[in-house]
Amino acid sequence: MMKSVGFIGWRGMVGSVLLNRMREENDFLKINPHFFSTSQLGQDGPIINNIVFKNLKDAYNIDLLKEMDIIITCQGSVYTDTIYSKLRKSNWKGYWIDAASTLRMKNDSIIVLDPINLKVIKKALNSGIKTFVGSNCTVSLMLMALGGLFSSKLVEWISVSTYQAASGAGAKHVIELLKQMGALYNAVSKDLSNNVCSILDIIKKVTKKIQDDNFPLQYFSVPLAGSLIPWIDIDMKTGQSREEWKGQFETNKILDSKNQIIIDETCVRISSIRCHSQSILVKLNKNISLKNIEEIIINHNKWVDFVPNNIEETIFKLTPSAVTGTLTIPVGRLRKSNIGDKYFSVFTVGDQLLWGAAEPLRRMLKLLINI
Ligand code: HSE
Repeated sequence: MMKSVGFIGWRGMVGSVLLNRMREENDFLKINPHFFSTSQLGQDGPIINNIVFKNLKDAYNIDLLKEMDIIITCQGSVYTDTIYSKLRKSNWKGYWIDAASTLRMKNDSIIVLDPINLKVIKKALNSGIKTFVGSNCTVSLMLMALGGLFSSKLVEWISVSTYQAASGAGAKHVIELLKQMGALYNAVSKDLSNNVCSILDIIKKVTKKIQDDNFPLQYFSVPLAGSLIPWIDIDMKTGQSREEWKGQFETNKILDSKNQIIIDETCVRISSIRCHSQSILVKLNKNISLKNIEEIIINHNKWVDFVPNNIEETIFKLTPSAVTGTLTIPVGRLRKSNIGDKYFSVFTVGDQLLWGAAEPLRRMLKLLINI
């Protein structure tokens, strides 16, 4: 019998990407979907295979949720905080798949990224684990890029600088970034179309606009367009932001590492829309050739697209604008570091809403519906 799958938070940014991927892969033919809402019960749900799913169910109704074999939520951590333990306490034994970070580090949950940790997932399923959570997006994208090096147990430590898209902060932030860009353009649009104004005057006007009281700052608090923000998420009071803290702890949980691999990050918000980029310095535990490193990276999974370290291919293939909306994980700028033989640097980009959020959840759902 087809499993009943409850969808919560399917209208948001990650949820919509999830539904689109499921439509593309015909996943809805293999499940009995039920759509819930936290605010619009009774209203129409999404259109799937030309059918409107009418009468949205109440996402706070434990009795209705209990009827599901699997629940998949992209609603966020407040919802998970409110509902998850109530539902488990009601003796619900179904599978919970979650995009939010709330349950990630719990002992009875697994962080899912099956091209990297399918064995860990299968072992967990056999031991009766029922809670599966998507990882932080920079973590998934870094692991998809360098998975071969981790599975070959070659990594001693890595140091990462991230360049993270506005979408990682949420839909309202993407809109605010675009408003900021528009405000900057509007401040000088006339000057850009005549050749009279000097570039220094144009920069002066734009700078004045960024500092203007009316500049849109409701969500980011500070300008992102024409600037960057070198802090993401809350302060861990250790010198790290929580985004930086997640790098080491989520990676080691995904890999089920016996010994912690050290991962140190500096996470920075930039003005790309939905693709995160990462510049990574790796220390290997032995000296291997660049050719070998390249082969290990390429052979790990079919989504890696190795970009040779030259100007032309780098600027056309290794950028957020080249990758956006695709599952491709370009990996390039591979070179040995001046620091020493066991050190190399590499650059990678990935769509934050696909491999960084929705795709690992979709693939986990697929594993569960085939059980
Ligand atoms: N926390 C990430 C970010 C996104 O702010 O970019 C989700 O993993």
